[in-house]
Amino acid sequence: MHPLRKLIQNEDLLSHLAQTYGTPIYVYDLGRITENLNRLETTLSSHFNRHHICYAVKANSNPHLLTEMRKILPNIGGDCSSPGELFVTEKAGIDPTRCIYTGNYESTYDLKIALEKGAYLNLDDISSFKRLLMVGLPDRISFRLNPGFGKGTFSQITTAGENAKFGIPAEKIIDAYRKAQDAGIKQFGLQCMAGSGNLDEGYFVELLRAIVLNTKKIENELSIRFEFISMGGGLGIPYKDEETPLNYDRLFRQLSKVLYDGYADQESAPALWVEPGKLIIGDAGFILTQVTGLKASYKNFIGIDAGMETLMRPALYGAYHRIYKVGYSGSNNGTYDFTGPICENTDRIAVDRPFPPIAEDDLIVIMDAGAYGYAMSHNFNTRPRAAEVLLDGDTHRLIRRRETIEDIFSGCDV
Ligand code: LLP
Repeated sequence: MHPLRKLIQNEDLLSHLAQTYGTPIYVYDLGRITENLNRLETTLSSHFNRHHICYAVKANSNPHLLTEMRKILPNIGGDCSSPGELFVTEKAGIDPTRCIYTGNYESTYDLKIALEKGAYLNLDDISSFKRLLMVGLPDRISFRLNPGFGKGTFSQITTAGENAKFGIPAEKIIDAYRKAQDAGIKQFGLQCMAGSGNLDEGYFVELLRAIVLNTKKIENELSIRFEFISMGGGLGIPYKDEETPLNYDRLFRQLSKVLYDGYADQESAPALWVEPGKLIIGDAGFILTQVTGLKASYKNFIGIDAGMETLMRPALYGAYHRIYKVGYSGSNNGTYDFTGPICENTDRIAVDRPFPPIAEDDLIVIMDAGAYGYAMSHNFNTRPRAAEVLLDGDTHRLIRRRETIEDIFSGCDV
């Protein structure tokens, strides 16, 4: 059962939210965010000597949510991949020196900002290091390893392996560290993010084994010590009822064994860093949307006011999101495609989905939209972005107002 199933059965509350803030809206549950963060922190501290959580800001960069996360875990850092993500992280009171900055074909401007802020620079290629030297020399550096294999829910979100644009192949990465060492850098880390949305514990074990083989080899050849290994994000959440959530305790117990078997004693082993996005905010957020129109065509369509501009994942990856009719838990009576108002035939939130009886103006929730929901929303068809609301126990507040049409054109010379 979805962790927010009880909450979204509360018809009075959801109707009240729709009346107060309009639809569509992204709704986040602070209780679930707190649970997700605390569970991860507790498990990591029980299995690792030293660890660090860098929340992946790309998953959801709402500054109010970032501030709440910092209040829950004061030591939290951020995984940032643009000057904008660094900016908002700092605004939320998270010290940039606790953040890792992972660029990809980044400009010297990007590198300059990340260096000035004091973030831990994680470079995607030796060519990035050359650009970095044009703006300055950091005290510490890490490189992103592409171990030659990756795994993600979809091929499009598999971020390592031969087809990936990310990371440095294992046989080349040692040169990168050598060049950094020759330039005078003395503090090192290694990062590897091999894919998003993984629920297979065995895969993480295999990945950490490959990482440790590499760190040991580099350490021996260059006589350096790694301060940390960052396994990136990639810790998945169930998007379907039949998927099983990761067992944190079992997973991190196995990972600590891999790390501490690789290093003779726990003191000399690098700290374990993680950069979770989905795991923290994915299942804590949903979209509340209203049925605009019903159409019986060659297929049956349920038109809603949240299309691919509000949730891009189904159109982009064919991603599956559970959809519920607010206040209804009975049986289904038909099969429908859910679509929004966008002029694209890929504008589908769900395809051939069994669903209960439905009428115009009914309220619907699209689950697991906390991560990469608002963050990947856009203005296609000149549609303003939806508002964001935080539920905090019995109270709720607007944490980002709905965009207006004027906002969209505010930078234009009209
Ligand atoms: N660290 C780095 C360097 C990353 O590139 C990513 C995600 C993360 C951490 C966080 O990964 P997570 O824990 O959320 O799996 N838009 C896609 C996901 C693409 C993720 C890309 N990088 C989606 O909606 O599924």
